[in-house]
Amino acid sequence: MKKLLKAIPLMLVVLMLTAIVSACGNSGSKVDVGIVLPTKDEPRWVQDEQRFKDELKGTKYSVEILFSQGSSAKEKENVDSLIAKGIKVLIISPQDGDAAAASVEAAQKAGIKVISYDRLITNTDAVDYYVTFDSVAVGKAQAQYLVDNAKGSGQPLYLYAGAASDNNAFLFFEGAWTVLQPKIADGTFKIANSSEAVTLQDKAELSREELSKIISQVTTNWDPSEAKNKAQTHLTAAAADQKGDVAILAPNDGTARSIADVFATDSAITSFVVTGQDAEKASIQYVIDGKQSMTVFKDVRNLVKDAMGMAVTILDGKEPETTGSYNNGKVDVQAKQTDVIVVDKDNVKASLIDSKYYEASEFTGL
Ligand code: BGC
Repeated sequence: MKKLLKAIPLMLVVLMLTAIVSACGNSGSKVDVGIVLPTKDEPRWVQDEQRFKDELKGTKYSVEILFSQGSSAKEKENVDSLIAKGIKVLIISPQDGDAAAASVEAAQKAGIKVISYDRLITNTDAVDYYVTFDSVAVGKAQAQYLVDNAKGSGQPLYLYAGAASDNNAFLFFEGAWTVLQPKIADGTFKIANSSEAVTLQDKAELSREELSKIISQVTTNWDPSEAKNKAQTHLTAAAADQKGDVAILAPNDGTARSIADVFATDSAITSFVVTGQDAEKASIQYVIDGKQSMTVFKDVRNLVKDAMGMAVTILDGKEPETTGSYNNGKVDVQAKQTDVIVVDKDNVKASLIDSKYYEASEFTGL
């Protein structure tokens, strides 16, 4: 009994300490800004994570970055857990633009400001801001590169697109189409792998539904192995006059490398020009080695700066600056847009090494 009495104060102290520690734990897990990115499986988004981490070094706000690993369900879980941690601002690049509506509507209900990052969340009014690259310009730049490097006339043109669940896939393709279509109409190019695109080849401007028809047919789903399979299927089906010197619109670097690898092994392909985007390290090496023709460099440092700048402005109780707007199917979302840079063998060093985006030592043969 005496022992027990003696032990009581000790137990109380232990209990109190436990309470204090767990209270600290709770406040320790409080987060101001939540960031949700689509997947760690693509270097593009790992780049973004790294650039966010670099940018965050100086901030007084607490930030947590989560990945959705290609799953809208996981994305919703991520957003819910960030809401529970009391975030005030959500920066999110959706796995699927439509499916993410439910997540951001939950955030909006909790009084959180939502910034769509790089990819627009569609068909909901629960998006406050959009920070993005000029995605139509990305598609235009890819197409212009093919036009500038076209050989002769009637050159076979292979078209590939991103995932139809990503609004950007539409913007990229729309941009590319505005440049390619007149060159299909004047006989410079001849579409080799899309009956839907052939049906629409006389139309200078395509509706979302028309774009959707082509994209669904030539989608890579942003997946390099799907891109590889499609390219193999297309080359197996291609007639002799669809080979020789060809042009390939590939939507991003991951898919460009696998499509390029397939075209490189077909002996009836004499030469090919292939596009890309993201300036992924592996593709920069491909560009240096002459295996991928170009990439579109989207300086993620700028996008990260814009997104965090906006978040901090909101946290400080002020209104962020925007430069335009994008319609997401339901509302016009106020947007801040940043430019892109075309990179090929000629300017790879100036644009990526001299700007300190990458280090020369990360490449061979520069
Ligand atoms: C991004 C690209 C990226 C692609 C696949 C797009 O929404 O803008 O940079 O390559 O998604 O992840």
